[in-house]
Amino acid sequence: MDKFKKRYGDWALVAGAAEGLGAAFSEVLASWGLHVIMVDRDTGKMKATAERLRRDYSVSIQEIEADLSDMLNIATIIEQIKETNCSLLIYNAAYGPVKDFLDNTVDELDYYVNLNSRTPLHLIYRFVKSLPSGQRSGILVMSSLAGLWGTQLVVPYGATKAFDYNLAEGLHYELKGRKIDVMACCAGATDTPNYRSTKPKENLLGPSMLKPHYVADRALRKLGKKAVYIPGFSNQLTYFLLTRIFPRSLSAGLMNRVMYKMYRN
Ligand SMILES: NC(=O)c1ccc[n+]([C@@H]2O[C@H](COP(=O)([O-])OP(=O)(O)OC[C@H]3O[C@@H](n4cnc5c(N)ncnc54)[C@H](OP(=O)(O)O)[C@@H]3O)[C@@H](O)[C@H]2O)c1
Repeated sequence: MDKFKKRYGDWALVAGAAEGLGAAFSEVLASWGLHVIMVDRDTGKMKATAERLRRDYSVSIQEIEADLSDMLNIATIIEQIKETNCSLLIYNAAYGPVKDFLDNTVDELDYYVNLNSRTPLHLIYRFVKSLPSGQRSGILVMSSLAGLWGTQLVVPYGATKAFDYNLAEGLHYELKGRKIDVMACCAGATDTPNYRSTKPKENLLGPSMLKPHYVADRALRKLGKKAVYIPGFSNQLTYFLLTRIFPRSLSAGLMNRVMYKMYRN
């Protein structure tokens, strides 16, 4: 993928990189010859992934140990971005347990907002400000199909993912003129340790599960081409039917029915 490297330069930063989709983003980028700055709070898992990538691909992998829900860590990340002249930012980390709204603690409500919305908002702001004027660069924000309709059992998560969707979609248009490509990736069910830990039940109407590597690869290839990308044919078809054919009330009802069947039936 010389074309990709030519467009976005030698370095990429993946926030939330230790496992699942974050590790897949890091691996796809490394396999395309980019050096990767991995950011994660779990140093054990990050170290293992970083070592594997260094071994399998001839690229530099840097590790930053940071809790991304803590805004104070943004300064360290920006410093590293400037030092390496990194011009590609992937914001992947998120908190999204499946549970009743009232089973969240007050602190947990803040955690969703901080990790899923406040940090990407401020990180992107400072990243864009730090870029030399006119430098081609890219920002990919992981959102979710759960952010497109209010969805029971993941209500605070879905609300923050709606924020991410709008953040990236708006910036796509606003930053186009500055040669900054911004895209939201609205994933459906993806086979990550986090998703598996929610223990979804099989359901005929339920989502088909994609592999993290597939999602990361396709999303990166769409950067610069789209404001919002939905990986996977069945997710795209679902999106088409639920947004173009069915009225919103019916779509939201269907999404919520599927969710209930997957986790409560
Ligand atoms: N998986 C799906 O089905 C799915 C569907 C739609 C959208 N998405 C979106 O895709 C992205 C990744 O999905 P995923 O949830 O399956 O996760 P993942 O890619 O498996 O993991 C996210 C990474 O972020 C790290 N992380 C979590 N909290 C952090 C914090 N406070 N500070 C630093 N790093 C942190 C995790 O480390 P730990 O292991 O320490 O937590 C993990 O390495 C999320 O934005 C999610 O909303 C996923």
